[in-house]
Amino acid sequence: MPLVNTKEMFEKAYKGGYAIGAFNCNNMEIVQAITEAAKECNSPVILQVSAGARKYAKPVYLKKMVEAAVEDTGLPIVLHLDHGADFEICKDCIDGGFTSVMIDCSSKPFEENIAITRKVVEYAHAHVPYVTVEAELGTLAGIEDDVKVEHGNESYTRPEQVEEFVRRTGVDSLAIAIGTSHGAYKFRPEQCTRDPKTGRLVPPPLRFDILEEVSKRLPGFPIVLHGSSSVNQKYVDIINAHGGALKDAVGVPEEQLRQAARMAVCKINIDSDLRLAMTAGIREHFEAHPEHFDPRQYIGDGRAYVKEIVKHKITEVLGSNDKL
Ligand code: G3H
Ligand code: 13P
Ligand code: ZN
Repeated sequence: MPLVNTKEMFEKAYKGGYAIGAFNCNNMEIVQAITEAAKECNSPVILQVSAGARKYAKPVYLKKMVEAAVEDTGLPIVLHLDHGADFEICKDCIDGGFTSVMIDCSSKPFEENIAITRKVVEYAHAHVPYVTVEAELGTLAGIEDDVKVEHGNESYTRPEQVEEFVRRTGVDSLAIAIGTSHGAYKFRPEQCTRDPKTGRLVPPPLRFDILEEVSKRLPGFPIVLHGSSSVNQKYVDIINAHGGALKDAVGVPEEQLRQAARMAVCKINIDSDLRLAMTAGIREHFEAHPEHFDPRQYIGDGRAYVKEIVKHKITEVLGSNDKL
């Protein structure tokens, strides 16, 4: 099975009331952990690569590693550009064999976002085979490569804009802002309440009213959620118990993501949770084995936790298991 685009995957996910996990990758162990987890769960999967990942690992390595994962697992896998900032990076990825790209001009004015997205769509759809395009309306708080949006400066997607945006751009899926944000600190403590028993932060709920309104205006159209790590306490606790200092890290509760996946959300982006799992495995390893210095030993433990969290996401959050 060669790399595939998102078209058929999203059609099935929409109808089936589940979402596909879009996991960020930037090294071999992360690619292996994600795709082995997906294989064991009989799940389709999206591997996404940011501009930062391309800079870190070099595009050719990433492409070859993802091709190796396709060969190793036989799974339908999408190779997707995450947060493409301009036409040039999208074109470069399309020319380089990506099967899906995101053009993210969400921080630009509406007309400019439309114009650049339209240009990417024209190029991607003329490609043989057809490359699918994701765009974004609304802005999320957090850091993506060089763009930093402070908490408080994010803006929710305006549902009254979505039909015009999709019609004029011809885009295949749309990322919307309903209260998620990038990174492991998704909500400021003052936005949250505290669980009296555990002392942990409880975040405000996502804006399901916006998702509902968007999907009413775009029936059958696949919606994407960025910034959707849940910051699972298990890995935060392991990190903190082994020399880390992640105070008040908080993510999106899993049951809200599950609810979104049952609605129009067909793609859920997860990066921070993999970073936390990898870090937990490595920190734990070093404390237990201070004498070790073979990277296979400690990165191997990180990889095992990444695989564990991806399996958990697929079966308990996304619902994409047994959907091949
Ligand atoms: O949305 C952003 C992703 O978490 C990628 O992060 O740009 O640091 O690779 P990165
Ligand atoms: P997280 O930081 O919540 O994992 O979000 C990742 C993301 O949206 C990548 O595009
Ligand atoms: Zn994102």
